[in-house]
Amino acid sequence: MVILRVASVELWNVVVRLGGRDVLKGVTASFEPGVHVVLGRNGAGKTTLLRAIAGLVKFYGEVRVLGKSVRGLGRRELARLVAYCWQNPYYGFIEATVEDEVRAILRILGVEGDWRVAELLVPKELMGRDPATLSGGEAKRVSMASMLVADQPVWLLDEPFTYLDREGVEAVAKLIEYARKKGKTVIVTLHEVFYASLVKPDTFIALDSGAVVASGRWSELSDKTLNSIGLVPRGALCATLCS
Ligand SMILES: Nc1ncnc2c1ncn2[C@@H]1O[C@H](COP(=O)(O)OP(=O)(O)OP(=O)(O)O)[C@@H](O)[C@H]1O
Ligand SMILES: [Mg+2]
Repeated sequence: MVILRVASVELWNVVVRLGGRDVLKGVTASFEPGVHVVLGRNGAGKTTLLRAIAGLVKFYGEVRVLGKSVRGLGRRELARLVAYCWQNPYYGFIEATVEDEVRAILRILGVEGDWRVAELLVPKELMGRDPATLSGGEAKRVSMASMLVADQPVWLLDEPFTYLDREGVEAVAKLIEYARKKGKTVIVTLHEVFYASLVKPDTFIALDSGAVVASGRWSELSDKTLNSIGLVPRGALCATLCS
């Protein structure tokens, strides 16, 4: 018997036009359950790619999540499938306290859940604070805690390590491992490969000027590809920048 696996997230010839130019130029990609990284220099189109999957930007072409066309899904329906963790966490905040912020996702999605799992990432003493007053690392933790509370099958993490100290980085690495074990599809953007060893990706996509220039198993990613998209090869960051 042949078992056909449907990819969790699929993009066909996705074009996004912003400010009069194509920021994504016909991206075709598919992601199965597991952990995947999207690599590219600043402005390559990584965030735009995640926004297309989350239905947050107008696109041409087709995007499907768990076999359903993103265009055909209502906001709530799509948000039940896809968690989107903003590169700038402050953009996503809508409530007056951190506790209300992590509880809000359940109300928005209209699902039952235990908001207290957020405390795995967010210290209790922050729960009464206005999210706008949080430090960058604290805000990043709060934005990721909402995904943990809502438990969607697809997680989009836009530069998840930004702002975080060592403890925060370890917490996010554990979160990604938890998601992998639960069979989620996790797509992580990175503008350099330093943190990829913590993420232990199954696959990669290399973006350059809005186009996919290479993709494959993580073990197949070469220094040549990294150089070609303007990233510093693994382990060579200091040697390059300090010379
Ligand atoms: N609303 C917009 N209007 C015009 N240009 C935009 C808009 N949003 C994004 N862009 C441009 O699209 C390009 C891709 O942006 P995007 O945020 O996807 O890049 P990125 O790969 O995530 O970069 P970074 O590593 O800095 O986060 C950039 O040149 C950006 O300036
Ligand atoms: Mg970005």
